[in-house]
Amino acid sequence: MTPKLLEGKKALITGSRRGIGAGIAQLFAEHGADVGINDITRDDEADKTIASIKAIGRKASWHQADVGNSDDRTRMLDEFVEQHGRIDILVNNAVASKDMHFTKITEEFWDHLVGHALKGYLFLAQGAVNHMIEHGHGGSVINISSVHSYRAWPHDGVYGIVKAGLNRMVQSMAHDLAGSGITANCVAPGYIDSRVLPQEEEHTRADDEYLGSAIGFIPSQRGGVPKDIAGACIFLASELGQYVNGQTITVDGGFLAGGVPQDSKPLEPGMPGAAE
Ligand SMILES: NC(=O)c1ccc[n+]([C@@H]2O[C@H](COP(=O)([O-])OP(=O)(O)OC[C@H]3O[C@@H](n4cnc5c(N)ncnc54)[C@H](O)[C@@H]3O)[C@@H](O)[C@H]2O)c1
Repeated sequence: MTPKLLEGKKALITGSRRGIGAGIAQLFAEHGADVGINDITRDDEADKTIASIKAIGRKASWHQADVGNSDDRTRMLDEFVEQHGRIDILVNNAVASKDMHFTKITEEFWDHLVGHALKGYLFLAQGAVNHMIEHGHGGSVINISSVHSYRAWPHDGVYGIVKAGLNRMVQSMAHDLAGSGITANCVAPGYIDSRVLPQEEEHTRADDEYLGSAIGFIPSQRGGVPKDIAGACIFLASELGQYVNGQTITVDGGFLAGGVPQDSKPLEPGMPGAAE
């Protein structure tokens, strides 16, 4: 049996009614953590995620809140600590973004994305860390960043800037929280298929058709799934990851390790990935 790496831990995961956040909450629960499910909205997906955690036998509290709103953040943290007794792990994951060409970026969109996905992450982390310090048993803060924090895609300016800011945020947190037993890190996902799929289509998750041409740039030769990101988060939040601090761990199947045109050095026939 796999050892439980988060036994008894209390973890709040933002934006976790579905997608990567739900995957993190589920794997955390499988590893013995009680979890807080946060999202801006409650729907069938939220209910399913909560039910799946209760089915594992762990506590799942619900916290409807906009992480971009200061009053919501304070209320959510207070509710979480009241219901769980303390907070050991915060995963900042929530996001609502869209593509926007640089010449068309609006102040409204900048304020929206920076407001919840950078400022919101910082102040939620600050509130969680203050609870952790008061409790005196350390803790972990994990920001979900992105490969977009390192590399630019068309129309991803604001998103990339926000994600790069998260990578830098954890460096400052690691310094300023020295001696507290609290670690702060980012996980930067690559191509992760976080779609909500009906059970009968689950076999298509992260398949070649979904990935399209991106598959040719991923050395692991598959798309990522929420559990891949959850695994990195568990490592960082568990005893195993306690000497990792102020870092951004990329979880992308090797995507960022590439960078040369695929046909620049054709593979020898017979090598893995070579043309027939
Ligand atoms: N899916 C990918 O390929 C990928 C790649 C790199 C990084 N990421 C990052 O992973 C994280 C999760 O992505 P996902 O693909 O699961 O997205 P998703 O859209 O499936 O889930 C995001 C969740 O956040 C919630 N949310 C949005 N705004 C909120 C707010 N203000 N307050 C509270 N909740 C809010 C949404 O309702 C949604 O349930 C994000 O930070 C994203 O940037 C995803």
